[in-house]
Amino acid sequence: MKDTYILAIESSCDETSCAIIKNGDTDISTVILTQIDIHTDFGGVVPEIASRHHLKNITMVIEETLRKANFTMDDIDAIAVTYGPGLIGSLLVGVEAAKTLAFAYNKPLIPVNHMAGHIYANNLTKKMEYPLLALVISGGHTDLIYMPEEYKFERLGGTLDDAVGESYDKVARVIGVGYPGGPILDKMAKVGVHEYNLPIPLNDNSYNFSFSGLKSAVINLAHNYEQRGIELNKENLAKSFQDVVVETICKKTLKALEDKNIKRLVLAGGVAANSGIREGLRKICEENGIEYSFPEFKYCTDNAAMIGAAAYFAYKHGHVATSNLNAKSSEELV
Ligand code: KG4
Ligand code: ZN
Repeated sequence: MKDTYILAIESSCDETSCAIIKNGDTDISTVILTQIDIHTDFGGVVPEIASRHHLKNITMVIEETLRKANFTMDDIDAIAVTYGPGLIGSLLVGVEAAKTLAFAYNKPLIPVNHMAGHIYANNLTKKMEYPLLALVISGGHTDLIYMPEEYKFERLGGTLDDAVGESYDKVARVIGVGYPGGPILDKMAKVGVHEYNLPIPLNDNSYNFSFSGLKSAVINLAHNYEQRGIELNKENLAKSFQDVVVETICKKTLKALEDKNIKRLVLAGGVAANSGIREGLRKICEENGIEYSFPEFKYCTDNAAMIGAAAYFAYKHGHVATSNLNAKSSEELV
């Protein structure tokens, strides 16, 4: 069968990225231009600044992706793009670039949901098999998604308030350890011990999560110690926080796997890089005979390779957009 080469664009948050992916599983060339340094001073992504940087860099990122692969547009079969969810101004830059390429070179345009991209990052490491349960944990999402078959998604539950990555970032900001908080707290947790008692959020039988209360508990603890002039051990706080996050994520994920009798778990999203969560899930999967996979670190945070991988399957299942495609800031994965 003829190989399919998809040129994919991702610009939903603060990474401008382009990739060429072969047959949904092979990364031919990926370029990721991150704006992390630009947003660090503000302690979070500033949407207007993000979209302006996407606009400035998108053409260069696309050209560099083609150059690295030694490809021209003649070698490309289709154009894919993240159309949502994400920051509207950022998404629009990628969507307009993809529409322009598709029109100018007369190629099909494939719309990809950002969360589908995170899930299909796994296919770049190992061929995905179904049915499976996907745990998507990122700066904007904490979702349990059941996939009965290829490119079919059923959301079982998710966060009712803050996403897990968001709570990492907010906690890190309050205790003054930098941005983005996830990788920093994860590193600190490795050298800390579990010293502080924090509440287990939404400790019920649902598939939902709630991290806002946990984040508030950490913030209150930090303020309380500050007022009493007691020094907080930040590594120990990171470890105590991470332990509770891991416990709640493992508990809800295992419940979904058991209730639905699913034997495969795939981890996805930026927070999938977290060592505590990876390890906690590995343990429950081992104990319960569940096949467990997660993407390579470089495919965990936002990148266009995962969009190109998902696009292959989206295309196969008839998802093609017209030039009317619009960016959508909030978009459920169905
Ligand atoms: O998927 P992603 O790149 O962007 C979104 O779609 O949100 O995820 C970014 C999030 C940030 O909140 C960041 O702090 C978090 O992923 N993150 C981590 C780790 N690495 C990145 N959170 C916890 N532990 C990590 N090692
Ligand atoms: Zn993401």
